[in-house]
Amino acid sequence: MLNLIPIKNSYMRFCNNFPLYYFSESGEPVLYKKAGENLKEGSFENNQYSDLFIRKEDEGAVAKQLQAALNIEFARAISSKGIVAIKSSLCLIVEEALSGPLETNLTSLPETIEILFYGTKKNPDLLDALVVINNKSAKVIEHSVNVLALVAQYCFFKKYSEERLKIFSLSALLHDIGLCRIEKEIIEKKERLTDKEFSIYKKHAIKGFNVLQFYPTFDKSVSITALEHHERLDGSGYPNGVKQISFESQVVGLIDSYESLKYQEKTFRQSLKPYDALQIIKKDVVLGKYNKKIFVDLCSCLIK
Ligand SMILES: [Fe+2]
Ligand SMILES: [Fe+2]
Repeated sequence: MLNLIPIKNSYMRFCNNFPLYYFSESGEPVLYKKAGENLKEGSFENNQYSDLFIRKEDEGAVAKQLQAALNIEFARAISSKGIVAIKSSLCLIVEEALSGPLETNLTSLPETIEILFYGTKKNPDLLDALVVINNKSAKVIEHSVNVLALVAQYCFFKKYSEERLKIFSLSALLHDIGLCRIEKEIIEKKERLTDKEFSIYKKHAIKGFNVLQFYPTFDKSVSITALEHHERLDGSGYPNGVKQISFESQVVGLIDSYESLKYQEKTFRQSLKPYDALQIIKKDVVLGKYNKKIFVDLCSCLIK
């Protein structure tokens, strides 16, 4: 029995090695091209292939080829292009990683972090510039890339080892991966969420943890950070209301809150200047929600 799924436009240039199908008017799947055959030129307007389908089992392999190509393009952008192109390239990688089959789709991201790391060594202003540039990507993607850049800045400031910095960076990039498993209407809602919607939203922490279980090669702190980044030291956080939180989760959680206040445009709350955002977080530090030392280090890192 064929299990077919619609093919995304971005997968088309990697489809030569895979069979593609379409559905006849009576709803029967029909082979459009065999594996190894090229696409029939000129058969689709404006490269819109929305009527073509791929076997579900082939999706992971196509996604992998696409991500390898995107990493090469990212490396090229880092070495020869401006910051706008670099951020677009990075956002595209994250968008593809988050929109494909999540159980297999994140394997190329450590290499993305590696490329970013070497880019930053060559150009120390890169991370700063990445956060400042506003890309038109979806909110979750832009937010994940910004948190990654801020956390990496923090790690460079703290002079962490290369290995630790890369693990931290991957944890930052994937801390909200569970949002991909929450209804789009809730994620993209501009108004304040209702209580019911917020209780659904809060499940992204556990869902993210579950997705990251498919990646045994990732350091354990990556999945733990996805689970704990909304936990607070006074037990007021979610999903479990625990007071014992890993150090990585504390750092990413604090920077996550800072990024949300500072960079995210919200209709019910305008984005804030760094000083004002830090003042709001400082109140929560005084209340015992965040680690004071991490907060002070973040302030020093941001005003360096
Ligand atoms: Fe989150
Ligand atoms: Fe977040």
